[in-house]
This record gives sequence, structure tokens and C-alpha cells, in this order.
Amino acid sequence: MSLSTQISNLELDSCLMNASGPLCTTLEQLKNLQNSSSGCIVSKSATLEHRKGNPEPRYWDHDLGSINSMGLPNEGYQYYIDSAKSLTKPYIMSVNGLTLEDTLHIVAQVCQEPSISGMEINLSCPNLIGKGQLAYDLEKMDSYLEAVFHTINSQEDRNKNQIVGVKLPPYFDLHWYPQVTNILKKYPLHFITCVNSIGNGLLVDLENRTTRIRPKDGMGGIGGIYIKPIGLSNVRNFYLEFQKQNVPIQVIGCGGIQSGEDVLEYILCGAQAVQIGTQLYREGVEVFHRIEEEVKEWLQKNNLESIMLLQGKLNTI
Ligand code: SIN
Repeated sequence: MSLSTQISNLELDSCLMNASGPLCTTLEQLKNLQNSSSGCIVSKSATLEHRKGNPEPRYWDHDLGSINSMGLPNEGYQYYIDSAKSLTKPYIMSVNGLTLEDTLHIVAQVCQEPSISGMEINLSCPNLIGKGQLAYDLEKMDSYLEAVFHTINSQEDRNKNQIVGVKLPPYFDLHWYPQVTNILKKYPLHFITCVNSIGNGLLVDLENRTTRIRPKDGMGGIGGIYIKPIGLSNVRNFYLEFQKQNVPIQVIGCGGIQSGEDVLEYILCGAQAVQIGTQLYREGVEVFHRIEEEVKEWLQKNNLESIMLLQGKLNTI
């Protein structure tokens, strides 16, 4: 039973990977991912310099999901470039420069690295105090991507094997999908990751009459099982729109994956691979082995050799 997949030219032994966020900030954590059953390692979104992030408490989790307002705590992009030398698995560096200028600086360095397999440009962090999510401003996203690809293409020594994708926020109204696609298809993107957490949710601690987290008056990105239906619909809608418009961008699904069945649902909706965030934080890197075994068991019961035989094959009842 195979979980292998391919994102453009990047072959992965397993379609399971971590979401940029939990347990991918330090080299020790990246090495733990290296030693897990995941097919690929994704780094925490890197800024130009080391960042402490937002004040604590900034993460809270219960059985339905999580709320976070981490504020991109990370070691600075050079750390994640240097980390690549210690990793042998496919390694995707997540990038969020905070400003366009910083993003271009980071992208110019990353795209020259032979040991980095790809870049995921994070256009959807909901936790930057005083800033909106870039991918909800389509004009800004367009000019941002234009500058990013101009920078990549003007690096003579760039690693042409690297795949490049963007991490998107959830969209809720159907008219967004063709509009966003019309922008994405202008650029040589290999993948999109849908979805980042649902921005600016609020979880309340009734007993103490407080918010669960401190930054932004308690508002933060909602992840986990709460958001699975939205993740599935974003994957499905982009998958169908890309097919309709003949756009060769692949979709990585993310949001509320806790079990093998969740993975299979995302693949049915059209995902080429999936990312796990909240459940990775809870369970540690062992989550990849457990979920892989659950997927294999399901495939065996259903006489399927490969998970990719299901990709996109969802029927409307
Ligand atoms: C954060 O560090 O605030 C989370 C990152 C993200 O949601 O993009």
C-alpha cells in the first residue's frame, strides 16, 4: 500500500507532512521530523531576523481544536537555510518576510540553495499585530507574487529544481475561487497549501471570564477539527477551478487532520498531499506513523494499491 506522491518534480515517499507552525522551529524539531514517517519537512515561517513572537499565553488547545496567536516566533531565515545541511528528507522552507522587501531578500537567498527542495510563501498569517492577511487583498497579492517571481527568475544561480508554493487563508464565498485562481495562474507556482488557520476566532474561558490567549484581545487563528469542513471545501474548490481553467498548480490540504480517514477525505477532494498541525502539536511526530498505518489499513480493506488512485475522485451525491 503506497502513500507516495509527487508535487511537480518533487517525489515524496509519503503524502503526509507537517504544517508550518508547531514543532518545526528549532533544528532539534526539524531533525525529529527528519526521523519521523513524514514525507517531507516544512520549516516554521522564517523572517529576516530572529523573532520572539507575540506575548504569552498565545496557544490553547482542546478536543475540538486550537487557537493560536504565535506571531511568527522563529530563528531568522539564515538558521533555516543552514539547517538544510543537516536534513536529508525533502525540505520546504516556509517564508514570511513581514515586508515585501524582506521577503524578496529571503527568497533571493533560498532559491539559490541546492539543499532546499522548495519554498512555501506564507501569505496568510492572521497573527501579525496591525497587519491583515495578504491573500485577502487580491491586488496586493498579485503585485507581491509578481515581485517574488521576478526576484527568483533574476537569480542566475537559482536551484531550478525547487518547487514554489503559497499558503493561503480559507476563503468562504464561492466567487473567490475563480478570482484567486486568475491571479495564481499568472505565476509559475507549483502548489498552494489550503488552508491556514481561520483568522481572528475567539475562544472563551467561562470559569475565569477571560480569553484563552492574550494577544490581539484574545483573537487568534483557529485550527483543528473545527476547521476541517472549510479546509476540505477550499481544497475541493481550488482543485475544481484549476481543472476547469487548466491550471497546473497542485493543492496541499491542511486543516483538522487527526486520522487516516481525514487524510483520505482530503485526497478525495483533490489534495496531492496533506499537512498536519494541531494534531502534530498534541501527539508529536509519532502522529505520522499512526496516520500512515490507518491509511494503509483503509487502502487494504478497499483493495487499493495507492492512495493517489483516490485523488480528486469525490462524487456529488
Ligand atoms: C503564527 O506564528 O502566528 C502562526 C503562523 C501562521 O498562521 O501563518
